Amino acid sequence: MPSRGKFITFEGAEGCGKSTHARLLGAYLAERGIPVRLIREPGGVVISEKVRELLLDKKNTAMNKECETLLYMAARAQLVEEVVIPELARGTVLVCDRFLDSTVAYQGYGCGVPVDTIRAIGLFATRGIQPDLTFFLDLDAQEGLRRRGSELDRIELRSIAYHQRVRAGYHQIAGNEPGRVVVIDGQRTREENFAQIRAVVDKIL
Ligand code: TMP
Repeated sequence: MPSRGKFITFEGAEGCGKSTHARLLGAYLAERGIPVRLIREPGGVVISEKVRELLLDKKNTAMNKECETLLYMAARAQLVEEVVIPELARGTVLVCDRFLDSTVAYQGYGCGVPVDTIRAIGLFATRGIQPDLTFFLDLDAQEGLRRRGSELDRIELRSIAYHQRVRAGYHQIAGNEPGRVVVIDGQRTREENFAQIRAVVDKIL
């Protein structure tokens, strides 16, 4: 039996740079000959990418928070089954751009869905699989949206107050699980941040 791989996630609000760092980490590990796979949420497999389109479509203004929460979970359940479980069993290092913490931050702290409910549905969707390590790239909400530019999706178009609640939610998550979540200061340069990320990952691999 191959040993279980590692599950590393990147989290943070809009424009924080997490996708860039997920890619940089993927390239760094591949160069070292470590089996690595990069995925994103919502998405990563055909069905979940279709759900992503529904979730981010600006025309879906009527979508309520319960529907939104369940769709994020539905996309996650499919990705877990098709990719997360088999890749971890194979010993792959999985680098995922967002996971359950995003639903806790965006639909929980952001939209007011009870966090306990999200965690209960999350357990069902993920079969209890949790990241070994999570990087939370922390950045001021206004600065993050400025970096995203003008082509904003349904979630990004929400108010600054909403995005500030999301950021505060991430701080709660990080405060509750300091052993798993590493907070990265999104204001620093990409090089400084990637050096910190690489050092943490080198220690656990
Ligand atoms: P992305 O911009 O990082 O690709 O993520 C897509 C959007 O979906 C982003 O605005 C954050 C949002 N999102 C949630 O609201 N809840 C979730 O559970 C996930 C995974 C993403």
